[in-house]
Amino acid sequence: MARLTTFSFLLLQTLGLSPTVNANTHNHANNHENFTFPSDPSVSGAPLEIIHAYFGQWPTGIAVSQSGRMFSNFPGGLDPANVNNGSNGVFTVGELVSPNTEKAYPSLEMNTPPCSGGAIDLTDPENPVGCGSAEHLVAVQSVVVDPKDRLWILDTGRPMYTFDNGSVILLPSSYGGPKLVGVDLTTDTVFMQVLFPEKVALPGDTYLNDVRFDLRSNVTSSGQGVAYITDSSSTGQNGIIVADLGTGESWRKLERHASVLPEEKFLPFVWGEPLYYVEDPGHPLSGNLTTTPPPGYIPMGSDGIAISADGETLFYCPLSSRRLYSVPTSLLLRRDDAADTELTEAVVDHGETGQSDGMETDSNGIIYKGNNEANAVVAFNPKTGTTQTVVRDPRIGWVDTLSVAEDGYLESGDGRKRPFGLFRVPLLEGATKVGPSYEA
Ligand SMILES: *[C@@H]1O[C@H](CO)[C@@H](O)[C@H](O)[C@H]1NC(C)=O
Ligand SMILES: *[C@@H]1O[C@H](CO)[C@@H](O)[C@H](O)[C@H]1NC(C)=O
Ligand SMILES: *[C@@H]1O[C@H](CO)[C@@H](O)[C@H](O)[C@H]1NC(C)=O
Ligand SMILES: *[C@@H]1O[C@H](CO)[C@@H](O)[C@H](O)[C@H]1NC(C)=O
Ligand SMILES: *[C@@H]1O[C@H](CO)[C@@H](O)[C@H](O)[C@H]1NC(C)=O
Repeated sequence: MARLTTFSFLLLQTLGLSPTVNANTHNHANNHENFTFPSDPSVSGAPLEIIHAYFGQWPTGIAVSQSGRMFSNFPGGLDPANVNNGSNGVFTVGELVSPNTEKAYPSLEMNTPPCSGGAIDLTDPENPVGCGSAEHLVAVQSVVVDPKDRLWILDTGRPMYTFDNGSVILLPSSYGGPKLVGVDLTTDTVFMQVLFPEKVALPGDTYLNDVRFDLRSNVTSSGQGVAYITDSSSTGQNGIIVADLGTGESWRKLERHASVLPEEKFLPFVWGEPLYYVEDPGHPLSGNLTTTPPPGYIPMGSDGIAISADGETLFYCPLSSRRLYSVPTSLLLRRDDAADTELTEAVVDHGETGQSDGMETDSNGIIYKGNNEANAVVAFNPKTGTTQTVVRDPRIGWVDTLSVAEDGYLESGDGRKRPFGLFRVPLLEGATKVGPSYEA
């Protein structure tokens, strides 16, 4: 054995959980020459089935219709290469048309906003803003197929912009940009639009991240159901937004409540490396951690969202946290001030379940979520409060979105390095997609 130098460090490995210890390690009969140490198996659960590889734009969302059509979004608020400039053909929502190609959806025209810089309004070149066109898609962060097989597109209205000096910033939105757009998949046309007013989608703060639906006719007087949306703002105004799909009205709840805020100095480790936050990707700090302070901590709040199979409970988790929270939806629906006090008291902290981005529910009430630090998808059972690992694979780096397909499979959009992968694994215990069973 090589002599240890003073620059080495010792690590005592004593974790005794592995059931697959090499037989030789049990053989104490004078054989300490030939043996292997137990090691992390790194793979568990059903093998990942590859569904789609993205070689071009960076996706963050996946939605699967009842007939198996698949849609992804490519957020202009996370990558300047996802921003349509009026003529570059870039789209923020696409349909997956072959195992490695995507096509603008519903149309390239709808993905090409008409402002001076396409998705960017450059009327005041010193103060660019997101284009305020209600008829176009500006910077979409999420796509979801609801229990009635309709596609919903969640537009933040906030693209990134690159200044001449290279600085990259997330622009404020303009009214008309932040919206929830419903598309009828039988005609591929828009049937509904919820435009968020500036007091709900705060122009320089709100980042509409993900959305779930409760379509029960008795939840609002309009009878068309509601949408629940996370505001993952990186500037602190986090909360949950509720939208009435009949009247188009919307309101904010849990404003800056501890359960929607990022945890301070939260540092996840992804593929073994600490993940810090770089404020201006155009000017990443040079140097290394021995010479420079950490660039920053991930500042995103409430991000992942899932609704219980019966519609009564909303689960959510901040991006910068390993905790999972829930609240009764009945209190999110009430708009009086008294409900706010009840609401904050009714928040349930389910404890640590792994750092996640997107989440999804199945018909058995199981919540699936990424455990990005363990290259895994885990399942949380609200009935028992326990979490189990569903699948682990070194190819999983960051599970952005989970989507339950009609066939009882979980599709998971993932990654930061090309090609980005869309993988599929079966749900636990033969579960299926939630609803439309609970639709009245
Ligand atoms: C260890 O393995 C080597 C190579 O297979 C063998 O020659 C040697 O006899 C083994 N030693 C013991 C103690 O079993
Ligand atoms: C938009 O992008 C295309 C392709 O990169 C480029 O040719 C065109 O000049 C750009 N337009 C503007 C207004 O920047
Ligand atoms: C680049 O220019 C913008 C707009 O003038 C300014 O806000 C920003 O601070 C500049 N970035 C750097 C690194 O100088
Ligand atoms: C809606 O109806 C279901 C039963 O169909 C009931 O369990 C639920 O409490 C009702 N919700 C509201 C908000 O009235
Ligand atoms: C960190 O940067 C300093 C200054 O550039 C350099 O001397 C040092 O070797 C670097 N350390 C590592 C671990 O890269």
